[in-house]
Amino acid sequence: MTEPPLPKRIGRYRIDGVLGEGAMSVVYAGFDPDIEREVAIKCLHREMEADPAYRRRFVVEARAAGHLTHPHIVTVFDAGESEQGHSYIAMERLSGETLAGRVAREGFPSILVILDLAEKIAAALDYAHAKGVVHRDIKPENIMLGSGWSTVKISDFGIAERRDSDTVADTPRTEIGGTLAYMAPEQLRGERTDMRGDLFSLGVMLFWLVTGKLPWHETDDIQRLVRERQRIRRPGVVPRDPTTPAILVDIVQTLLAPDARDRYQRGAEVVEDLRLARREYERLQERPLDSRVISLRVRWSGLLGVVLSLTLLLGLAAIHAKQNMAVTGLALDFGNSLGHMIASESAEDLLLGDRAATRALVQDIASNQQISYLAIADRQGEIIASTQRGQVGQALPVLAGKRTSGHNGDLQSYRSRITGDSKAGEMLLFDIPIRYQTATVGDLRLGVDDAQLRAAQKTTLGVIIAVLLVTLVAVVGSAYWLSRRLLALLDLLDNAMLQVARGDFRYRIRLARRDELGRVFATFNLMNGALQSGRAQSQKANPVTPPDRVERPTVIIPLPDPAGEPKQPRR
Ligand SMILES: Nc1ncnc2c1ncn2[C@@H]1O[C@H](COP(=O)(O)OP(=O)(O)O)[C@@H](O)[C@H]1O
Ligand SMILES: [Mg+2]
Repeated sequence: MTEPPLPKRIGRYRIDGVLGEGAMSVVYAGFDPDIEREVAIKCLHREMEADPAYRRRFVVEARAAGHLTHPHIVTVFDAGESEQGHSYIAMERLSGETLAGRVAREGFPSILVILDLAEKIAAALDYAHAKGVVHRDIKPENIMLGSGWSTVKISDFGIAERRDSDTVADTPRTEIGGTLAYMAPEQLRGERTDMRGDLFSLGVMLFWLVTGKLPWHETDDIQRLVRERQRIRRPGVVPRDPTTPAILVDIVQTLLAPDARDRYQRGAEVVEDLRLARREYERLQERPLDSRVISLRVRWSGLLGVVLSLTLLLGLAAIHAKQNMAVTGLALDFGNSLGHMIASESAEDLLLGDRAATRALVQDIASNQQISYLAIADRQGEIIASTQRGQVGQALPVLAGKRTSGHNGDLQSYRSRITGDSKAGEMLLFDIPIRYQTATVGDLRLGVDDAQLRAAQKTTLGVIIAVLLVTLVAVVGSAYWLSRRLLALLDLLDNAMLQVARGDFRYRIRLARRDELGRVFATFNLMNGALQSGRAQSQKANPVTPPDRVERPTVIIPLPDPAGEPKQPRR
């Protein structure tokens, strides 16, 4: 379409350039000198202006859009006719880039962006529908974006319909308006569409964003399109991104239901489900395989802890046994020598029957701190002298207690208590026969206190246990801490592979390492490089014009008269 040179002014607005063009109109960069504000001025193309039908629509557009104030709908400030007789609409000025243009330039956005876009558009549609306005031409070319992905506005109400408008609603329908690929089946049949037609178009747009393709083959022939839609009633949604939440796929399928009654009935319902999809996506992103994973960190540290504990326990048991043997041996040797010494000292007195001398000897020896008990009995077993006075004259009691091992000969030793003595604790008791030359003249019982030795042994054991526990904590703790570093690197690799799964073959791991992981990273980069050049070659071999570069025009098609063929679309 050849436009005349840029007008200097339209109405009171100064014209500075062209922002964009659609099938029906051209949009100028305008400036309002009164309030010093940048605006966008939309005018019909010259050839359209001659057609009263288009002029009428232009007025409807101004009224429909002017009726709406919403953060995700382009705001209309003013409408009118210039001195030269051109109709115009003045509206807020945006970057001029549409969703179609952005995707052609940058590629498809991420799932989170798609969810956000869809939520904003569905909310804006819900608002417009509640105000009685049906857009009827929702498509990527009519969604305007700001500099990022977050500013999203529905524009171009060029073929919108106002429910309460007497100009449109009550006149019989003679034409279909919209963009074929995005039109709801009822719109294609020429029936009056309601808000659910807009939701169908939103469904086609979402299908395109999620899968990268349109749901049905593109054609200019309305009959073929109708047949194609009947052949494939529910096109399968195969997402580009494997992390697409299942709920989003369901939403697209529900929006594309051939029967309007099976679709969402209001934009607000779509918004609600999109929020669920976002929550599902975020949950999956946080912990993709959460239910089956026991972290390597826990496993490795746990295993190390168990192995180390077992080894330390065995070592501790060995040390304890050895120490026990040494302490007991020492006490036995001491008791043994002392016992024999006392026995040889007392043998003569016993033989002579000198009880007083025997008692004096017992008293003398009992002053030794290490000796807890001493009793001497004669040949008949009657106690003559004892450190426990009460026992004198009684028979030497039979000892019950744990017999200690390790010593041979005539010596018998026990670990026991002396009955009747409440003060004495456990001690080592020795029974030694008293001999004079070869004849046995009596018996000697000696009690040696080894409590101090035992206490020393306990202290050593306590210190060893403490050292072992500290070792255990230190080793397991440092294993847990060290594995954190390794797992962070594994996470990096995991994320890199996820990028490949999403089709990003340009991704490279930039972290340089001089170890085995560095080798794995380099191999990953090689692999993705190979995949990237493989894709580039296959694209060279089968060049495809991406469908997103094709501008799909809005058309006004006269409805077929009952007898004749439908006429060709008018653009
Ligand atoms: N408010 C605006 N600010 C900046 N650019 C705009 C604005 N409105 C429209 N445009 C640009 O003009 C083009 C055509 O506008 P549109 O309203 O879709 O016209 P048509 O009815 O002919 O399709 C858009 O694709 C966009 O690039
Ligand atoms: Mg448009």
